[in-house]
Amino acid sequence: MEQLCIGIDLGGTSIKMGIFSADAKLLKKWEIPTDTSNKGENIIKDIAKSIKKELKASDLSIMDCIGIGMGVPGPVLKSGYVKVCVNLGWKDVYPGRELSDILGGIAVYLGNDANVAALGESWQGAAKDTQDTVLVTIGTGVGSGIIIDGKIVVGRHGLAGEIGHIHVEDNESKQCNCGAYGCLEQLASATGIVRLAKAALEKDKRSSLLQNIEKLTAKDVFDSAKAGDEVAMEIVQKVCAYLGVAISKVSLTVDPEVIVIGGGVSKAGSFLTDLIKKEYLKYTTLSDEHADIVLAQLGNDAGIYGAAKLALSALT
Ligand code: BGC
Repeated sequence: MEQLCIGIDLGGTSIKMGIFSADAKLLKKWEIPTDTSNKGENIIKDIAKSIKKELKASDLSIMDCIGIGMGVPGPVLKSGYVKVCVNLGWKDVYPGRELSDILGGIAVYLGNDANVAALGESWQGAAKDTQDTVLVTIGTGVGSGIIIDGKIVVGRHGLAGEIGHIHVEDNESKQCNCGAYGCLEQLASATGIVRLAKAALEKDKRSSLLQNIEKLTAKDVFDSAKAGDEVAMEIVQKVCAYLGVAISKVSLTVDPEVIVIGGGVSKAGSFLTDLIKKEYLKYTTLSDEHADIVLAQLGNDAGIYGAAKLALSALT
């Protein structure tokens, strides 16, 4: 029997999982919703249950797997300790240990979700063959993974690349899940985009396609902007301005070869990256030799690829 490995991308809204062959082919993928109730206490149990179920459906068992890699949406220390995941409600947890215990002691390797996605894109995606890469993930949260000289930069406290909690707005009265005010994540995550849209709709008297949508999503905002809706376009421009300025700061700090935009919101495609780029270029005028901004090639699978790579690198 061929040996397998599992890649998990744990997000604030959904958990994506994939079974990979030891030579890195994605054999099967699926996703389940993230249950953030009761401070996310069911998440690891749900993951374990779902893995067992999907392996069984393919006539496989956990014994066929050599290891698991998992990206989680928060700072991760080398010991596997996760102090906080603001979008899951987790505090002071060892999620890798818990998963391994439920699944009979299998090796579980943990990383921050954005770091892991950066690993995925530099392994098999848009940053292939680069040594210095930044991946910005825009989903329920906003994060970034920084790879320099082929190595993920984690930082002393696991905080390297926590771009979502960079301050970008002084006039913000609502507190971010992290406790601060005016974080990029409050304004440019999928939830932040919807929040900005709702606030704009309350004030703006112009008619907008967004007014007729019952359960507004970030995708609706981008789709309406693409369709020429003025109100939606102004929101998108505002969001991309925040992203552009924050990304320029990261670029001028670590000077990567490429900046990859991933996460659910990146499904908006080059419409999104072109607008971010326009802003980013305003603040990176020191030299015209700087990183280009591109879309993630693995799309929303970057996280599971990177998680599998994390496990395979540790095991082989
Ligand atoms: C977390 C990051 C994570 C990002 C995307 C942020 O709220 O602090 O660690 O990478 O969300 O999930």
